[in-house]
Amino acid sequence: MSARKLTEGIFEVGARDWERRLFDELIPLPDGTSYNSYLILGSEKTALIDTVDPKTFDQILANLKKLKIKAIDYIIANHAEQDHSGSIPALLEIFTGAKVVTNSKCKAMLIDLLHIGGDRFIVKEDHETLTLGGKTLEFIIFPWVHWPETMLTYAREDRILFSCDLFGSHTADSRLFIEKDRETGIKEPAFRYFAEIMYPFRSNIAGNFEKITSLDISMIAPSHGAVYTNPGFIIECYREWISDRVVNKVVIPFVSMHGSVRAMTDYLMDALIDRGIEVKPFDLTASDVGKLAMALTDAATVVVGVPTVLGGMHPWAAYAVYLYNLLRPKTKFVTVIGSYGWGGKALEQIKSMLYNVKAEILAPVIIKGLPGEKELSALDALADCIASKHKEIGII
Ligand code: FEO
Repeated sequence: MSARKLTEGIFEVGARDWERRLFDELIPLPDGTSYNSYLILGSEKTALIDTVDPKTFDQILANLKKLKIKAIDYIIANHAEQDHSGSIPALLEIFTGAKVVTNSKCKAMLIDLLHIGGDRFIVKEDHETLTLGGKTLEFIIFPWVHWPETMLTYAREDRILFSCDLFGSHTADSRLFIEKDRETGIKEPAFRYFAEIMYPFRSNIAGNFEKITSLDISMIAPSHGAVYTNPGFIIECYREWISDRVVNKVVIPFVSMHGSVRAMTDYLMDALIDRGIEVKPFDLTASDVGKLAMALTDAATVVVGVPTVLGGMHPWAAYAVYLYNLLRPKTKFVTVIGSYGWGGKALEQIKSMLYNVKAEILAPVIIKGLPGEKELSALDALADCIASKHKEIGII
């Protein structure tokens, strides 16, 4: 535990969660995470921007004690999700004069999720401000990153943007600031976070991006992971990640029970590589979901490799296809390769699960048993088809 100074009168007082390995009981956290909470000391009032996951409440309390904070006037809630809001009720009990400052949507959600009394709120809407004495906080409504009520807080005099989940990274690294020499190292954690959490909302981010680029920003301080002292770095990363651009890449999430789908996947991989296409295979029995999500963000084509089990698609493939659909990918082409023993409905099942995927469905290659010469030729034809589609959209 330690309070880390951003600038005069502004401290990070949140918690590091070194041991957490899953978020939402779904997303892998190889490097843990942090719940950053920012204390702003004005000449008249004190505010806390976002709090911490309740299981790390002791850490924020210790940090506030270390700084000898006797009163908090405002707790700013940029987002209602409990990893940031969950300690608000306990803080309201300690700091009995404190008010929760947030927008009307977030207020309603905090009442539903945490049962905070309606009289403890001050509601602020887009571009409204709160004065602390020498420090003015402006609230910027920025919905759907990644819940509907999200907002950002901009400290005008210090030019710091407190972005909550947006621009976050899941890392419990004790070094708060990303200086120039750490930019390369943070790119993968930041991209993994984007792929897992923000990617489905990329059009919402793009639609509101000007609200960020129009600000004069000295630091971007998210509520997970690193603080950017060169905001242009992470802004430019996001500009690329939220774009509609796809690349000459095929992602193949696959499962193989007895080697047939594995043989098809290996053959198709080689055939695609021979045609100048990047290939990323993921054996779904042993793959990191985060790496799969990262690979999917800009792949032009996805080929699902699936065996049939008990008349339907293998459950691991169903899990991957379900997640793939939830991510609302910008994939242009999708198809299936698979093998069955005596029949099944894997293809129909996969098609019905891809209702969010606006891709063209290419002719699948579904075979009985182990691939022979005829089936391998069908895979060559599929590789030709993918290469020609990639040429059509100008990425080969
Ligand atoms: Fe970090 Fe959406 O909470």
